[in-house]
Amino acid sequence: MPASVLVGTQWGDEGKGKVTDLISGDFDVVCRYAGGANAGHTVIAGGHKLALHQVPSGVMYKGVYPVIGNGCIVDPEVLLNEMDMLEKQGISCEDLKISGNAHIVMPYHKDLDGAHEKKLGKNLIGTTKRGVGPCYMDKMNRTGLRMQDMLDGHIFREKLEAALAYTNPILEKVYGLPTYTVDQICETYLPYAERLKPYIIESSRFLNDQLDAGKNILFEGAQATMLDIDHGTYPFVTSSNCTAGGAVTGSGVGPTRISRVLGVAKAYLTRVGSGPFPTELFDETGDKLGEVGHEYGVTTGRKRRCGWYDSVVVNYAARVNGLTDLAITKLDVLGCLDEIKVCVAYECGGKTYHTVPEHQSVFYHAKPVYETLPGWKCDISNVRNFYQLPREAKDYIDFLEQLAGVRISIITVGPDREQTINRYWN
Ligand code: GDP
Ligand code: IMO
Ligand code: MG
Repeated sequence: MPASVLVGTQWGDEGKGKVTDLISGDFDVVCRYAGGANAGHTVIAGGHKLALHQVPSGVMYKGVYPVIGNGCIVDPEVLLNEMDMLEKQGISCEDLKISGNAHIVMPYHKDLDGAHEKKLGKNLIGTTKRGVGPCYMDKMNRTGLRMQDMLDGHIFREKLEAALAYTNPILEKVYGLPTYTVDQICETYLPYAERLKPYIIESSRFLNDQLDAGKNILFEGAQATMLDIDHGTYPFVTSSNCTAGGAVTGSGVGPTRISRVLGVAKAYLTRVGSGPFPTELFDETGDKLGEVGHEYGVTTGRKRRCGWYDSVVVNYAARVNGLTDLAITKLDVLGCLDEIKVCVAYECGGKTYHTVPEHQSVFYHAKPVYETLPGWKCDISNVRNFYQLPREAKDYIDFLEQLAGVRISIITVGPDREQTINRYWN
């Protein structure tokens, strides 16, 4: 298994952090390939509960290199705070590597993110306000600053001057916001640069050298398939390619070196922010899932919208990511319900859809078609073997497997590393 990708199959927060941490011990490198501090990955192991935004979840293992790939964006303030937090907990970041081509989140990106959302009014995207959209805009516009610019203070100043010449009029004239001077930003960013310099490398080369030496790499996805800029519910998406293809462009490792793609899906469904969500629940069952599943955002603390598992979405994720395996998380949470619904198709305008409709208006008006399964009404958080699950839980997993057309290799039954059933992942 030279390189594997782990990817969210829904709208994020599927438990990617937990599953990454769970399997990281089998890898030599864990590399994030897209997104920035908008991600919030929870890892609970060895008495530590960590919320990671920038550092790959493989950091918990000694001997595993955590890498921030070129497809990521880096908020130096968030990253340095996270590194300090990890060091305080006795988790070393000395092996962290950051791609020199990863773009830097600047203070004005965060200002623009907030101001743009305000301007959108009721049509807002509900972003994490971490400056993600504006930073990727600058990347595509070729007006961004990259981590390698931090290696030389003169270059950093020069590039910042050009960036501000473009951005200040937008801040002022479009959004009525205060502008920035080069000195103002350098005052905080050059000290960040001093601290981050030792970690900045040519990461494509590092990753390929590792593979050449027979080492294994796990690409840890952030966000998810339905938040992907190309394949998600545009415009209610993030600004990067979170799908498995992003692991190639976001790391500089060729597709021929990737042999497994593990999709992570929650046993029900959640979404944060705006946008369509056909199986969303507005009743006490939705509230119960939110309560029992502690569905509050790791990055923003927002209450997550909750709904039934949507097999049309996961089946679509299987297609666009080329999934070889699936991990179903939070199965324990469903133990609170008498019966469980699964969306198997949509109906819209008298037509039945078995895949995500291409036209967004159809998706907006899609009504879910449900199959109802009996619940198991008990605590399964101590189960470690598939055959020890109650029959109803096994039937539920078999049904999801059949609908996804992908084998379910991992099932998680609690937030701790140990609360896991490994069926086929090795
Ligand atoms: P990520 O963004 O995909 O890494 O997911 P988050 O960390 O944002 O959200 C997942 C939440 O579910 C976290 O609070 C995890 O600790 C928790 N979690 C993960 N797996 C399980 C599980 O199997 N059962 C329960 N009850 N909680 C879980
Ligand atoms: P993890 O990695 C859930 C959502 C935001 C918003 C949209 C755009 O923890 O699964 P952005 O700040 O990226 O411009 O926001 O995407 N979003 C997430 N939702 N989990 C995430 O990350 C998310 N990252 C972004 O809520 O709807
Ligand atoms: Mg999250």
